[in-house]
Amino acid sequence: INFIRFIISKLSVIFMITIIGSGKVGGDAALFSALKKLDDQILLLDVAKGLPQGEAMDINHMLSEQGIDVEVKGSNDYEDIRGSNIVVVVAGSARKPGMTRMDLLKINASIVKSVTENIKKYADDSMIIPVSNPLDPMAYITQKVSGFDRSRVFGMGGMLDLSRFRQFIHESTGHSRDSIRGLVIGEHGENMLPLPRFSSVSGIPLSSFLPKEKLDEIVQNTKQVAAKVIELKGATVHAPGNAISAILETVVRDRKQVIPVATYLDGEYGHSDVTIGVPAVIGKNGVEKIIELDLNDEERQMFDKGVANVKDAISGIEI
Ligand code: 2OP
Repeated sequence: INFIRFIISKLSVIFMITIIGSGKVGGDAALFSALKKLDDQILLLDVAKGLPQGEAMDINHMLSEQGIDVEVKGSNDYEDIRGSNIVVVVAGSARKPGMTRMDLLKINASIVKSVTENIKKYADDSMIIPVSNPLDPMAYITQKVSGFDRSRVFGMGGMLDLSRFRQFIHESTGHSRDSIRGLVIGEHGENMLPLPRFSSVSGIPLSSFLPKEKLDEIVQNTKQVAAKVIELKGATVHAPGNAISAILETVVRDRKQVIPVATYLDGEYGHSDVTIGVPAVIGKNGVEKIIELDLNDEERQMFDKGVANVKDAISGIEI
């Protein structure tokens, strides 16, 4: 069966999506991807016996009522990821109240390393979307351990930060969420870089709607709001789950959306041998182009600070 799936994936444009880690975020990513009908089958993989199977059943029961013929499967066996075109990695510990994303570095590094070794072994043609925190160092480890072309490894962080940034702009302007465009790049962490200068309401610069003080406040809030959600409900779930499905959609439908992803830089933005959030064209081949923005001094400083922080983190990990 796996062999047949593998051949089908080579012959057609059907994408096989696997999500490794079937906790709340992994489960939500599967749920939203199924609702978007991104694939005929979505596989949830986890080391915890029963968890991915139970999650798959629960989602299938919901899809059944909705009349959606996407099959969600659960497995504890890496053999089952053979033929995957895209593998999302959510495995690892999640941020708890009072923790920064970097606090998870040591524990998640070894998990992400071993998961990536298995992806390389069983699905070495796939694209990998790292999600575990701290995102940028985890995406770097994934890149190095897989040895994949850098276009095939792109982490989800900026897309999530952007959804929060857009929400604050919506709250402050009162304009429809649908009309709000923006960018958040840099580290998915303390040095996150929301970019009001590259954001708009229906193409009209944000500065026409909001004074500088308000924009500064929105930037600060965007950086801090995940910690607030974690403090209130214990974890961030729906926004990250949805952001994963949004990235999957631009790949599967080859939409070539320009979105922020954590990808490996090789001279772009004046940096090399580091993985950090930058705007990129995402389509069926993964990262099809990295877009270099003309940052001003203040923006550049924050971006460089993020790079330094990520480099510092990865220098302490054995890969
Ligand atoms: C988030 O931003 C904790 O990185 C996670 O929701």
